[in-house]
This record gives sequence, structure tokens and C-alpha cells, in this order.
Amino acid sequence: MNRHHAFTNGYAAYPRGHGSTFSISPHRFQPRPQPALRRRKQLIQRLFLIGGVSLLLLVLIFPSWRAALLPVVSLGLLSSGEDTQIQTVRYYDLSAVQGTGNGWEKGERVLMCTPLRDASSHLPMFFSHLRNMTYPHHLIDLAFLVSDSKDDTLGMLNRMLEELQTDSDPKMPYGEISVIQKDFGQKVTQDVESRHGFAAQAGRRKLMAQARNWLLSATLRPTHSWVYWRDADVETAPFTIIEDLMRHDKDVIVPNVWRPLPDWLGGEQPYDLNSWQESETALALAETLDEDAVIVEGYAEYATWRPHLAYLRDPYGDPDMEMELDGVGGVSILAKAKVFRSGVHFPAFSFEKHAETEAFGKMAKRMGFSVVGLPHYTIWHLYEPSVDDLRHMEEMEEERKAREKEESEQAERSARVNNLFRDIKPESEADNAIIRDNMQTEKDELTASENPKKPEAGKAEEATAQKPPKVPGQEDQKASDSWKSKDLKDAEEVPAIKPAKEQAGVAHDE
Ligand SMILES: *[C@@H]1O[C@H](CO)[C@@H](O)[C@H](O)[C@H]1NC(C)=O
Repeated sequence: MNRHHAFTNGYAAYPRGHGSTFSISPHRFQPRPQPALRRRKQLIQRLFLIGGVSLLLLVLIFPSWRAALLPVVSLGLLSSGEDTQIQTVRYYDLSAVQGTGNGWEKGERVLMCTPLRDASSHLPMFFSHLRNMTYPHHLIDLAFLVSDSKDDTLGMLNRMLEELQTDSDPKMPYGEISVIQKDFGQKVTQDVESRHGFAAQAGRRKLMAQARNWLLSATLRPTHSWVYWRDADVETAPFTIIEDLMRHDKDVIVPNVWRPLPDWLGGEQPYDLNSWQESETALALAETLDEDAVIVEGYAEYATWRPHLAYLRDPYGDPDMEMELDGVGGVSILAKAKVFRSGVHFPAFSFEKHAETEAFGKMAKRMGFSVVGLPHYTIWHLYEPSVDDLRHMEEMEEERKAREKEESEQAERSARVNNLFRDIKPESEADNAIIRDNMQTEKDELTASENPKKPEAGKAEEATAQKPPKVPGQEDQKASDSWKSKDLKDAEEVPAIKPAKEQAGVAHDE
């Protein structure tokens, strides 16, 4: 793997090619005797002269090198020694990167952080989002942390970045890109079940917190006004999400995060339950827990009765409506860089009985920053069926197959019975038909007069009349009815029970 690979295209946040950074070594400073200093100066001058002459010769011999060599020549010979030193010093006015509500007009740089773990299956979708984002790409620096991955996340990431940064559309390439690699010994396997299991939560969240802190501290530069945290497994989000969140001009802001579900599970469900407002019940609960305990939201084990951002969603509500939050979820957080510069981070320990993003929200609040969520502005997390869901889907499939089998058997049986009758009494067939028709007409008239508004009843009667011994049509109806009601029951159970169980997409991951 080419770990120090730099993309040739893209927009540099820093001017390149001006040598290494300036460093000061105070312990080496001491007055030197004058002659030594002079000798040194002469030596340096001679070296410069030799270097210059050889460069000149090179340029004469290889005219094509001129473009590459001229800047070096001008640095080395045309500017004085003092200038060279000053060019290695960088000045930053951090009051200019506080972050404002219309950052894209002011050229404010955003650092977009994405932690990745065994995420190769999500990367194509993630890069599709990247391509669609409307915030000027050259103002966004990307930072990835690849940790504890067993799949080819890193290789795939490199390939897709290469493709993105060499895109012929000048609006496509992003700014500087950092790929950070570090394992955190995340032992819990990454399948949905164990990721979301209650027992695993506290430890998992603490490791995630460390991963976020490593990623941010390694990549936040003095040029960044904003930090946007975005998970790789978001399925649907507005292309304008960064601007939409930025417009609110808050220190920390999150959208609502839901996930789509198969129809039999109700079609959709709140996903990120980590964005909430503090409640009296939760504070009282926190009092009873020991110092290192970590409350994780969305589990029956901790009934906190907090107002969750997710549950307040109204699909037709005003997407600009704000709600004050204490804890935040990490699927998509836009924060001003000054929040992190001030020391707010993702606690990898119990801070006010919380860890990671929830504790980040609490800490930001404690430091006087604004923390809000948008209940009616929703992004959609990918739906990954849990083991339970998969089992249920299998059962449904089996029952469907059994039903089909029974139906075809029944059809076969009645066909055989019909043939039997035809063989025994072929001559009475016509008479029977006439009688049947008469009976039918009578019955139809009867039902129509009795029950004029029930067409299904008439149909059922029809079926009965045509196939006296068995009523497969009606049985079907019954079967699918019980089926439907089972589905409905499940669907109704979802909001009530699922969120409290592991299935309720409690926490976000990666
Ligand atoms: C990006 O935009 C294209 C074209 O509008 C669309 O087909 C695609 O689904 C979008 N990608 C995502 C991840 O939303």
C-alpha cells in the first residue's frame, strides 16, 4: 500500500513546495566566535554558487526542466537568505476561522471526518454522496480513519479517492485528503446484532470516542472553520446538507436520523436515539449509578424518558425548526472548529454518565456552546436487517411457499374430483349445470336483495356455488387475512417495542 501517496490533483489548503516547516531549537543558540561565523558564511556562499552554476548548466542541457527548476533557482539565488526563512513561517489569524452562517460565500474551509471500519460495501454510496454535495468541494478537506478492518476498506478508499481527485470536472476534486490508519482493538464483531447489543455498548462507545479524537487531532488545521462528522452508511441525505446545517449558525447542530424498513416492519423507524434533551428521570438515574457507568440511550435497561430528537419528527414539519439538545448522535454532526479548539472532545470515559458523541454534546453544552437538532430535517441511515429480521423474513418466505404448495395441491385435487364426476356421469353433466345455474341466479338475487352493499359476500357465494365440496378461494382469503393481521400486528409493535430493544437502530456505528 502506498501510504504516503499524494494526489496530484485537488486543491491544496497550503501552498506547496516551500521546504520543511520552521523549527526553533533554543538549546542550540549560543554566541559564536566571529571568525568561525565568517568562515561559515563564506562556505555557504560558495555552496550556493556551486549549486547555482550546476542548476544553470542543467537548465541549458535539459530545456524541458526549466519549468520545474526555475522556482527552486529563484528561491535559492534571487531571494535573500532572510526571505527564505520567513517563507517557512506560517501565520494564522484564528479569529478569521470562527465559522459563520454563510461560510460557503466567505470561503470557509470544512474538515469532513469519516471513521471507517470494514466499510468497503458502503464506500460506493458514500462517494456518490461526496460527488453530489453542493458545498464547494475545494473548500472541504476530507479526513478518514481506517481502523480494525478485515476487508479491503483501505485499498478501495484509495482507489475511489484517486478517481474522485482526478475527475475531469473541475468542481469534483476535494481539498486536502488525509487517510489515517490506526487500530483500536475493537474486538466486538461488526455484525448488526453484537454492535447493537446492550452489554457491548459502553466499551464500544469508548473505543469509538478514541477513534474520533485521534482522527480529529491528526487532521484539524488552523485553516478549518467547521468540522463535519459524517458516517459512511448514510443512504439518503440532501445534497445541500452542509449549507443547510451551517445556515443555522450554531456551534453544534445535527439533523434527525431515521432509517427505512421493509413494509412488514412499518416502512420506517427512528434510527439515531443518541440525540436527546436531558430529563429529570435521567438525571435521577445518573445519580444512582457509579462514577464510571455509561448510560446508553435506546435500551430498555435505562429508561430515561428523555425527549428524543428522532421521535419528534413530523414529515410535514418545518425543516428549519430547532430543538435544544444535550446529547447528540454521531451520524452527521456539523460543529464549528472553535468548539474542538476550545477543548471539547469525544470523552472515552464516563463524562456525566455518558461517552462519545452523547458526552460530546453534554460537554459542549457545559462549555456554553449552543447544541441543537433539527427534528423535521431528516437524513436516512442504511437499513441492515438484524438477525431477528432475517429470521422473520425467512419464516415469511417459508410460509408463502407452504401456502403456494397447498394451493396447487388443492387445485390438483379438485381437478381430479371433477374428472372423476365427468367419467362416472357424463350424461347428467348438462342437467347439473342447468340446475346449478338456476340455483346460482336465485342465490345471487337473494344476496343482492339482502345485502346490496356487500359485493365480496356475493363473490364468496359464487365460489361456493361453483365448487360445492371445498372452498379454496375462501380459505385463501382467510389465510392471507391472518397473514395480513400478523403483519399489521408486527408493524404496530414496532414503535412501541422495537426502539427499546436492540433492533431499534439505536446507535450509529463505524
Ligand atoms: C447523486 O445524484 C445522482 C443524480 O441526481 C443520483 O442518481 C444519486 O442517487 C445520488 N447519490 C446519492 C447517494 O444520493
